[in-house]
Amino acid sequence: MEHSWPVMHLSSVDSTNNFLLRLIETGQATHEMVINARFQNQGRGQESNTWESDPCQNLTFSLLLKPEYLKASSMFFLNQAISLAIIDYLEDNQIFARIKWPNDILVGCKKIAGILIENSFLGDKYQHAVVGIGLNVNQEYFPDLQHKAISMKNLLGKDLNLDVVLHRLLNAIHQRIKYLKRGDFDVLADDYKKHLHLFQCWATYRNKDESFKGKILDVKPSGELCILLENGEVREFLNKEVAFV
Ligand code: BTN
Repeated sequence: MEHSWPVMHLSSVDSTNNFLLRLIETGQATHEMVINARFQNQGRGQESNTWESDPCQNLTFSLLLKPEYLKASSMFFLNQAISLAIIDYLEDNQIFARIKWPNDILVGCKKIAGILIENSFLGDKYQHAVVGIGLNVNQEYFPDLQHKAISMKNLLGKDLNLDVVLHRLLNAIHQRIKYLKRGDFDVLADDYKKHLHLFQCWATYRNKDESFKGKILDVKPSGELCILLENGEVREFLNKEVAFV
C-alpha cells in the first residue's frame, strides 16, 4: 500500500519544521500532512545546528505524525523507524548507508541525510511528532562540508527527479511506520543495530573533554548508547553526552 499523505509544496520557507509547527499552533495542520520546500533559508539541524541545502537540489520536508500508538517512553522507536525508512529507500537505489547514532545517515563517513524530530507530549501521550528530513539528492558540491556531506548524485552519477524521490521515500516511511503501529519494536531495534555505524567495533569517542576507546554493544529502547570501555565497564550515554571522534 502506498502512502496517501497530502503534500504541500513551497518554493521557499524559513524551515519546513517551523512552518508545520506554526500550522499546528494555529489549528491549520491536518494529520499526516507533508510540507516540502524547494529552499529553506533557516533550515535547522539537531543541537541548534543549521541545515544547509542548495535551492532546488535536495529534499527538505517535514511530516506530521500523531503516533497515538506510541508511549512517550517508546519515542526512540520513531527515530529508528524513520532512520530505517531512509536506509531502505537508499538501498532500493543501490546505496548502502549506515546510521550514526542516534539518527544521522552516512555513506562511508559522509552524511547523506539528517533527521530532526520535534515531539510534543501531554503526560505520557503523544500529541504530535514533526519529522523533518533533509536528504542530499542532486547537489554535487558542498563547499563548507566538502569532507562531510555526500549526495545521491555523487554516488549514482545522475540527477534524480525530486518529486519521485519524495514519493518513494514517503512510501518507505509509510512501510516502517507499520512496524510501530503493530508494536514490532524488536524488529526495528534489530534492523537499527544491523545498520548502526561502528556497531561492535572498537573506536574512539569523546565525553566532555576526555577521549576514550570503546565498542558499541547495544542501544536501549529509550535510546541510550551502551559502550563497552577498555576496562570492561559498560557505560550508557544519552544523546549529546558522547561524540564520535
Ligand atoms: C541534522 O542532521 O542535524 C538534522 C537535519 C534536519 C534537516 C531537515 S530539512 C527539513 C526539516 N526542516 C528543518 O529546518 N530541518 C529539517
